Amino acid sequence: MDLKQFVAIVPDWPKPGIKFKDITPLMANGDAYKYATDQIVAYARDKEIDLIVGPEARGFIIGCPVAYSLGLGFAPVRKKGKLPRETVDVDYGLEYGTDVLTIHRDAIKPGQRVLITDDLLATGGTIEATIKLVEELGGVVAGIAFLIELTYLDGRSKIGNYDILTLLEY
Ligand code: PRP
Repeated sequence: MDLKQFVAIVPDWPKPGIKFKDITPLMANGDAYKYATDQIVAYARDKEIDLIVGPEARGFIIGCPVAYSLGLGFAPVRKKGKLPRETVDVDYGLEYGTDVLTIHRDAIKPGQRVLITDDLLATGGTIEATIKLVEELGGVVAGIAFLIELTYLDGRSKIGNYDILTLLEY
């Protein structure tokens, strides 16, 4: 299935010069959403994954159906101030300034094999921060799956030497 037909390119959003990749048409189409989910499930199947971890908010949309399909749990990475119990936090770079991502301290047991999911690899800042949180808790990043990679931003160079799946490239 050609998933690109379900990604709407929105020019000059959220600011001039950006071509935003809107995945809501893909999510709204049951066949396309299932197809994308099944690709990630197939990628994850032989990796002995224990847990799926994804960053707010679109990482949940990609990761939760994968977790359900594999019969695994899902641990959310959230922006600061959203998780109610003890967290570990990491700063990450935005275009202007920094923000903070957090995960519950007990979300991952040391040695657990984690699949990280998100919709988009752009500069790599979000996923770099998510990797740091997983590893700080003793998790092993066994794979990282994205729906979309913006190859011209070279986020991979920030991520380093991990096993990465991307379903669509721009
Ligand atoms: C978007 C996207 C990725 C991240 C990619 O999330 O869903 O998580 O940016 O960009 P990067 O590789 O340059 O870090 P955003 O922070 O907009 O949050 P949202 O999913 O809650 O809208």
